[in-house]
Amino acid sequence: MPNPITGFSKLTKSQKIEWLLETYFTEKETARSLVQNYWNTDQKLQKLHDEFIENTITNYYLPLGVAPNFSINEKLYAIPMAIEESSVVAAASKAAKFWLNRGGFKAEVISTEKIGQVHFIYDGNFEELKSFFETIKPQLIRATEAITKNMQRRGGGISDIELRDKSNDLNNYYQLHATFETLDAMGANFINSCLEQFATTFKSEAKRLLKGELDIVMSILSNYVPNCLVRAEVSCPVLDLKSKDIPNPELFAQKFKQAINIAEIESYRAVTHNKGIMNGIDAVVLATGNDFRAVEAGVHAYASKSGKYSSLTHCTIDDGIFKFWMEIPLALGTVGGLTSLHPLVKFSMELLQKPSAKDLMKVVAVAGLAQNFAAVKSLTTTGIQEGHMKMHLMNILNQFEATETEKQKLIQHFKTNVVTHSSVVEAIEEIRK
Ligand code: MEV
Repeated sequence: MPNPITGFSKLTKSQKIEWLLETYFTEKETARSLVQNYWNTDQKLQKLHDEFIENTITNYYLPLGVAPNFSINEKLYAIPMAIEESSVVAAASKAAKFWLNRGGFKAEVISTEKIGQVHFIYDGNFEELKSFFETIKPQLIRATEAITKNMQRRGGGISDIELRDKSNDLNNYYQLHATFETLDAMGANFINSCLEQFATTFKSEAKRLLKGELDIVMSILSNYVPNCLVRAEVSCPVLDLKSKDIPNPELFAQKFKQAINIAEIESYRAVTHNKGIMNGIDAVVLATGNDFRAVEAGVHAYASKSGKYSSLTHCTIDDGIFKFWMEIPLALGTVGGLTSLHPLVKFSMELLQKPSAKDLMKVVAVAGLAQNFAAVKSLTTTGIQEGHMKMHLMNILNQFEATETEKQKLIQHFKTNVVTHSSVVEAIEEIRK
């Protein structure tokens, strides 16, 4: 077993790599060249990436794909998607094209409120705490002026602070529950700085004015933002759903709606259903330098808001009109963070025509809805494996380092044969005999 290391972070990049090679690798040369081959030859660019995180040894690539032909509120977008899973970008593109001639996607931002909380323990009387809070509330806001000045000038800032009594759920537990408008910034730094300042002012004033003991536990934004909501929708007459893959639109619409209804009432299905939505959402969130973990956490909490985990998308068929939509919480930024640092994020933002945070919320929600439409359409018609395995074929061929000629032959062969991992391996072996 290797010994623990102290001071790893203080080592240079090469020293870190050497230590790792010495400690964990048998094929040291191979591992060293692998790590080094992924370095960028542009030193400045490499340094930029090195400094995004700590203990960087190399870069980890994800493909950046593009799904064109998205009509969103009658404006045409090519959507950047960073994702490793085959079929996702193809499915998004297909859904975009399908809806392009059927009215396109409609999207609207419903609300943009962000949330942060100061969690504290207080052992005194609640009425006293309440009147203390009301007295010092203006002071809490005043004390953050240096932090909020710029945001306020642009029309954002702190919207409100509430005192919340949570002592029925946990002994002596209370919160300052604050709401914010952070405009085009995701706002995590802004919110956390405000909260820490609230906590400092609150604590010191409590010492002066309150009889009971008050202790701050922590101050942190919430990634659950049920009032930072966007809605995406598609609709058209059922008969207009007719296409090459949908010969019977009425039957298709009924079956599609049934699949959505199943995901609405059955959590096992809802999780996979929503995972498909997140295929689209995460890919755009990542391509635009936003925090996909924050988005994931918030979206899944929203999917459980009724107390039961359920589908994020919904469908109706009324008076011959098929309607399919989703409302989700998305806290996104188009300024600050990685957005002005990562060159490919800047590229993605330009591709999206320099969106505001609200524009980006619409694009991301549409990508999620499109992904779900494509997945449920496949699942309720051909099944997903047909398309999936065709894409998967490429991955297997690359894994076996197939040459271009071999690829052409095998793609041809699998046009009429079923793709499975073993059938591809057998076919490669056959042509290499
Ligand atoms: C695969 O990544 C996503 C799907 O499983 C989503 C779904 O089942 O709806 C195809």
